[in-house]
Amino acid sequence: MGRIQVLSKNVSDKIAAGEVVERPASVIKELLENAVDAQATVITVEIKSGGIKYMRVTDNGIGMSKEDARLSIIRHATSKISTEEDLSRIATLGFRGEALSSIAAVSKLEIYTKTRNEETGTYMIAQNGEILDIVEAGCPDGTTVLVRELFCTVPARMKFLKKDYTEAGYIEDIVARLALSHPEISVKFINNGKEIIFTPGDNQLSSAIYAVYGKDIKNAMVEAEYEENGVKVHGMCAKASAARANRNMENFFVNGRYIKSALLAHAVEEAYKNELMVKKFPACVLNIEISPEMVDINIHPTKLEAKFADEKTVYHAVYWAAKNALYKKAYIPEVTETKPSQVTYTRPTPETVKETFKSAPEIKRELPKIDFSKVTPVKPFEPPKTEQAKISFGENTYKIPEKKPEIKVEVKEIPKPVIETSVPVIEEKVVEEVREKPVFKICGQVFNTYIIVEKDEKMLMVDQHAAHERLRYEKLLSQYRERNVVTQILLMPEIVKLTANEYATFCEHETEICELGYIASPYGEREIIVREIPMEAEESDIEETIFEIISMFSANRKNIDDDLAAKMLYRIACRGAIKANKELNSIEMDKLLTDIFMLDNINTCPHGRPITIEFTKDFIEKQFKRIV
Ligand SMILES: Nc1ncnc2c1ncn2[C@@H]1O[C@H](COP(=O)(O)OP(=O)(O)OP(=O)(O)O)[C@@H](O)[C@H]1O
Ligand SMILES: [Mg+2]
Repeated sequence: MGRIQVLSKNVSDKIAAGEVVERPASVIKELLENAVDAQATVITVEIKSGGIKYMRVTDNGIGMSKEDARLSIIRHATSKISTEEDLSRIATLGFRGEALSSIAAVSKLEIYTKTRNEETGTYMIAQNGEILDIVEAGCPDGTTVLVRELFCTVPARMKFLKKDYTEAGYIEDIVARLALSHPEISVKFINNGKEIIFTPGDNQLSSAIYAVYGKDIKNAMVEAEYEENGVKVHGMCAKASAARANRNMENFFVNGRYIKSALLAHAVEEAYKNELMVKKFPACVLNIEISPEMVDINIHPTKLEAKFADEKTVYHAVYWAAKNALYKKAYIPEVTETKPSQVTYTRPTPETVKETFKSAPEIKRELPKIDFSKVTPVKPFEPPKTEQAKISFGENTYKIPEKKPEIKVEVKEIPKPVIETSVPVIEEKVVEEVREKPVFKICGQVFNTYIIVEKDEKMLMVDQHAAHERLRYEKLLSQYRERNVVTQILLMPEIVKLTANEYATFCEHETEICELGYIASPYGEREIIVREIPMEAEESDIEETIFEIISMFSANRKNIDDDLAAKMLYRIACRGAIKANKELNSIEMDKLLTDIFMLDNINTCPHGRPITIEFTKDFIEKQFKRIV
């Protein structure tokens, strides 16, 4: 007998399901797309426990007959295409007939559905890919799909799932993107009984943006529109001031479908090129309408990628849509409310603090109770505890104060004390390592950027910014290694708004973020409150740093290690370093140079640029032809 056999339907369905259903968010994506294809105008998504135990999607679309419901969970059964030609002109979000069969293969699936012209509806329950029951049932027009116990039939998959709130964050992301791509549909998302997103379905993109990203982003948005050779781009782009530390808010939809596209991201980022700082990314929601024959979305099982027949035109159209939007904004002054974190930081006086409390509505909210048991990582300095030693003089016993090297106790003409102690450290001589101040002569500062120094028969040029960056970084790093980052308490805690994904990442890495010296905790829906920051960090830069730290965590998708910590510490240390183009006085120069010369063998800033360049006396004399 040969070794090859055709796999059973049960096994092959599970293999196919693996491609479509990776996690709860993939189920929600498929169910939402089915609801859109069914022409729903109202969709409600409800989940519990990160979707793993329970997900329910209800729509008011066209519904299914009993027979269609029965067929819907059969692999490759679809109402959306029928011929090979149809594949090249797909106008619906679904077309493979694989989603419901995949979901049914790996969960307990229930469907309630009713078409508009039927009196009664249908209830169907399936498990392990098999229909357990299908009966007539009273239900409203439309379809409700209930998915319970995801991966109950493939427990190995469970291992790859993250914590409930992380999975809920991924789901929220999917719902948010659907809401942004279809402002004509009213979308509601309820997580553990709490309403998180609700769009009005008034066909206004700005309403959907407001519901998903909040007031600040919505206010920063400018309409974008451009058409070229049959490619129509429309949507909104945010002003450069609302830029983000990652690409999470770059949204591209092709014919109503969310896609990830390096091509389109590049086009938009090029349009913003001179407006944004490095490593900043625009927020945008851009819809690309294109003839279905000119785009292939059948290149990836999750349909998240697209291949355009004419990439150049699409690139152009997106570029100009964004560019024009940015250009337009220059002529339309917008009055927006700034939140406290966007105001340039000036240290408050008692009067301004009072004023700010009067005028800043956010601050009036009740601050959450801090669970101090959670905030352990940054420890205040405590001297090491040693058991106190005792000295006896005849009958009297004295406690020796804890050892302080500078105090000399002279014992004259007193009988030699008997020391009863098990603490050997008392007897030890403390040899404090006193490093000598390096010898150098400051000759001056040139271009307000480089310090000229004479040292060890050489002339040195020191880049003041690179030097200061390095010092701050080294200090922070050594504190971090001891898990003892010294922090400053903010006079006014800062509230940072995050996207669903960012919030989930924060919750997952809260302790590690605290260890970096940012003492922050969740604060309401998708907000965190930062109460302390590292002493070496900049007060005016909190929001940006938090965004970047979070995006480094999500890009690495793992827990912190030395490499990642080093990157984050660079980022924290670099912002506040003395800038180039700043005049320094001789005390400042002396302090900077003393510190930098005490760092052994370090001659680069954390980015790898040199701190010092040297000119030997020989070299200089050769230039002057004093020696040959
Ligand atoms: N919410 C719904 N309302 C009405 N009909 C639905 C709904 N969900 C699924 N169906 C019907 O069930 C069929 C199978 O759905 P399924 O999602 O498995 O495949 P598809 O949407 O056709 O393709 P794809 O696998 O690409 O999503 C659909 O073609 C559609 O006819
Ligand atoms: Mg589908």
